Amino acid sequence: MARHLITSAIPYINGIKHLGNLVGSQLPADLYARYLRGRGHDVLFLCATDEHGTPAELAAAKAGQPVADYCAEMHAVQAGIARGFGLSFDHFGRSSSPQNARLTQYFAGRLNDQGLIREVTEEQVYSVTDGRFLPDRYIEGTCPNCGFESARGDQCDNCTKQLDPTDLINPHSTISGATDLEVRPTKHLYLEQSKLKGKLADWIDSKGDWPILTTSIAKKWLNDGDGLQDRGITRDLHWGVPVQDGDKPWPGMEGKVFYVWFDAPIEYIACAQEWVDAGKGSNWESWWRTDKGADDVRYTQFMGKDNVPFHTLSFPVTIMGADDNWKLVDYIKSFNYLNYDGGQFSTSRGRGVFMDQALEILPADYWRWWLLSHAPESSDAEFTWESFTQDVNKDLADVLGNFVSRITKFCRAKFGDAVPAGGEEGGAEAALTEELTRRLKTYESHMDAIEVRKAAAELRAIWVAGNEYLQATAPWTTFKTDPDQAAAQVRIGLNLVRLYAILSAPFIPEAARAMRDAMKVDHAAWPDDIATSLHALPAGHAFDVPENLFRKITEAERDDWAARFAGVRT
Ligand code: MF3
Ligand code: ZN
Repeated sequence: MARHLITSAIPYINGIKHLGNLVGSQLPADLYARYLRGRGHDVLFLCATDEHGTPAELAAAKAGQPVADYCAEMHAVQAGIARGFGLSFDHFGRSSSPQNARLTQYFAGRLNDQGLIREVTEEQVYSVTDGRFLPDRYIEGTCPNCGFESARGDQCDNCTKQLDPTDLINPHSTISGATDLEVRPTKHLYLEQSKLKGKLADWIDSKGDWPILTTSIAKKWLNDGDGLQDRGITRDLHWGVPVQDGDKPWPGMEGKVFYVWFDAPIEYIACAQEWVDAGKGSNWESWWRTDKGADDVRYTQFMGKDNVPFHTLSFPVTIMGADDNWKLVDYIKSFNYLNYDGGQFSTSRGRGVFMDQALEILPADYWRWWLLSHAPESSDAEFTWESFTQDVNKDLADVLGNFVSRITKFCRAKFGDAVPAGGEEGGAEAALTEELTRRLKTYESHMDAIEVRKAAAELRAIWVAGNEYLQATAPWTTFKTDPDQAAAQVRIGLNLVRLYAILSAPFIPEAARAMRDAMKVDHAAWPDDIATSLHALPAGHAFDVPENLFRKITEAERDDWAARFAGVRT
């Protein structure tokens, strides 16, 4: 049994995420966490809301609420939706927690002690109309790198370049639209990331097993020198973690807060502390400090590609720079983008399907299956209603759902509501055992490597193998001449339902639960051996015929949904 720490990039508090966001971090993280738990490992799976910074302030202002109230409300909304999708976080924390404030202040103080922080008086954009400095997203303008016209003050959404507000061409205030912007002096803290360049490069070079998407982005930012420029880690905002040097005031920094990208990843750590403080666990340091037991923890992070520079460079600088036995990530799984029906998902334009809407239409498993089996790993992927309808109807309804309903109904009709006795196994069963043994190994190796699409394809092939077995042995025909032999085939079929419940649970937990309940299995350990697990349910073991596991999507629904989500979210 190994110990696995898993985190998903923490979603911004403002607004509900779309399916592209979901498949790029939280959902594959959940898949992996469920798989590892299924295999008996000790897993701590954490996520949280990213609550500081200008996006939260802007959204709260738009909603006419104090920012703290807005965040508390939106956190509850996001937590509910995450539950709806079956995201099995051990804790869903908040970056605005007191635990995170203390840790963030500790890290800043520690980095300062290590000589990695410099105070800089810099020129910042001040809006005369708004009467305040305009950091980050309060300013938009043209990206100096790619020419994109709505680049934000901190990052260009088009080319992902990290920016400083003063880099923008033709800037304007997003509060008022004002263009009467002046540059005025203000004092800020800079993290001297460049001092750790050599250490970072060695560390990234040592990660030969990381996905190419992760290392290529990391190396690009590292070697362009661009991602590693010393960065301002404070802002002239009210909402955020107050700038302190550990628990002491930081002279000259009164009234300022840490930059959201400085405190957000520290929430990965604080969240473990929140988990303990919520009474759900103990000894959070044993997950996070290598001097307190975390050296035997394997830490895996999940995120979309736009988050990679922060997780391969900035956050590791915080961890390494603090030089105080904090755990570095072992493996970073990153994702490309999921597009929506010939274009992009767009939060601002409400284009595409958002998490709350998805759950209003269909249960989580339908979405989980499609999204994970199309995870944008080697390239961007595209959601279309055609593909979604086709895969749900085929993989879930025709292959898996039909298998379960056919075998349980046939057994009930001919043998009653218990696994039948009698009959002998032969070549078909041996061939099935051989095929499933091979496929189980492949499935496990894809899951271990977090090759999500390949794992989904293998699971589908495992379902298909059962269908083919049933098709070939045809117990309903056998029954007419040799009921004993049919009993042996049905017994295998019912055991396959149990096996499918275990193997499918990471992808489609609700349906897996229904299969397990129908087979009246309380505890179902991951199979070590297919031959044994095809006989786990003995003759006489009672079962129920489950409700239809999956329904088909009609053409009318498909067209209706395509029209409904093409436009503006209301
Ligand atoms: N909120 C960010 C996003 O949605 C992700 C933050 S991840 C963390 O892009 F590491 F900073 F926590
Ligand atoms: Zn750009």
